[in-house]
Amino acid sequence: MKIAVAGTGYVGLVTGACLAFKGHDVVCVDVDEKKVERLRSGDPVIYENGLEEVLQKCIKDGTLSFTTDYKSAYKDAEVVIISVGTPEKKDGSANLIYINGVADQIADSVERDCIIIMKSTVPIGTSDRIEARIISGLTHPVKVELASNPEFLAQGTAVENTLNPDRIIIGVKSTRAEKVLLKVYKNFDAPKLVVKRHSAEMIKYASNDFLALKISYVNEIANLCELTGADIDEVTCGMGFDPRIGSSFLRAGTGYGGSCFPKDTKALHWLSNIRGHELKTVRAAIDVNESQKLVLIKKAHSFYENFTDVNIAVLGLTFKPNTDDLRESPSLSCIPYLVDDGAKIKAWDPVGAENFKKFYPDEITYCDSISDTLEGADICFIFTEWPDVKEMDVSEFSKKMRKPLVLDGRNCFSLKEMKNKGVTYMSIGRPVIKA
Ligand code: UDX
Repeated sequence: MKIAVAGTGYVGLVTGACLAFKGHDVVCVDVDEKKVERLRSGDPVIYENGLEEVLQKCIKDGTLSFTTDYKSAYKDAEVVIISVGTPEKKDGSANLIYINGVADQIADSVERDCIIIMKSTVPIGTSDRIEARIISGLTHPVKVELASNPEFLAQGTAVENTLNPDRIIIGVKSTRAEKVLLKVYKNFDAPKLVVKRHSAEMIKYASNDFLALKISYVNEIANLCELTGADIDEVTCGMGFDPRIGSSFLRAGTGYGGSCFPKDTKALHWLSNIRGHELKTVRAAIDVNESQKLVLIKKAHSFYENFTDVNIAVLGLTFKPNTDDLRESPSLSCIPYLVDDGAKIKAWDPVGAENFKKFYPDEITYCDSISDTLEGADICFIFTEWPDVKEMDVSEFSKKMRKPLVLDGRNCFSLKEMKNKGVTYMSIGRPVIKA
């Protein structure tokens, strides 16, 4: 099938590349000339496992191309996929400015009957409005219908999640649209659920917000474990055996970040509010997460009144491993606080450091190794559970640090491993190990 994809962010690029990999003829559209140039040369621009290989194979096979010329891309596409960003506005609602822009370009360009697939996460009811907007702006006498088909890919495993999804949600209002979407996903071996468009839009928010809620719940229980002498790892292990609970997404930590959970919880809460309905559980998940992001700073304050001239090592900057994405990362909540307090900071992140430099080019020393980062440090903050951190020799802490206080926001090490290592070790929801 001839498919055009609007937007080459994480979702658009991965979706476009994977659909080409599955045999479709895909053209991806972006306004950024330089980015399109790099993508054409096979450079994925973002760090995402397996993307480079898929991209280069499809470009070589001639099934994937990139352009800034939206008219030529949309003109004769059977399917146009909208996958541009829906950033958070100040009031928490989703900003639809990019979606509206693409809708107008589609209306101005399509010259054959086609189905528009909404992949961006949009408030419930947006598909109706965007469909009406496109139909009223059409410049050719064609039949256009919109389908809601949310994605569930997680960064770092986006290619794998897209090629082997756990479900495909098809939100449509006609059998014509249903048939087209089933054809798009013909080569995907996954349960396909055909639902109303509004339900499809809600499934996306309800899924993400439920996972966010699960994390905030476990983080609250972890904080209570610290006050009661229980160990969150043992607690979640015990909970996870119950199939009604499940063992995934029960990792306690210093809060969730990324491009989805923070934005999607706020957007659904806002959407609910404007309809006069208070979504109390989601509000709680948001509030718990905000304070959880600062939990390591609170722990550090039990040793230091302020951080002026304190030598600080930071391991991990990204919101999770295997991505270079810093959006809503706990490091971005804590490091500004430490910088403002006059701390001397050294940081290490295998792929996120370059992006962090854009915020703090001079205030932080960026190191190439964990060992150099720890040299002379008084406190070590761990924000991301990179494999290099989890697999490091923990005796490095006492060998390299001046006063080894390790604050682990991702429970990278077992308590057994950290015992008798000459380190004060504080993690999330587990007993403190004293040096
Ligand atoms: C998420 C959803 O998983 C995905 O389905 C959706 O399409 C987009 O949002 P992503 O943001 O890439 O994906 O990452 P995810 O792996 O879900 O982690 C999100 C955040 O939650 C990270 O900061 C992670 O550290 C945190 N997290 C996750 C926990 O703190 N504990 C857990 O048990 C799981």
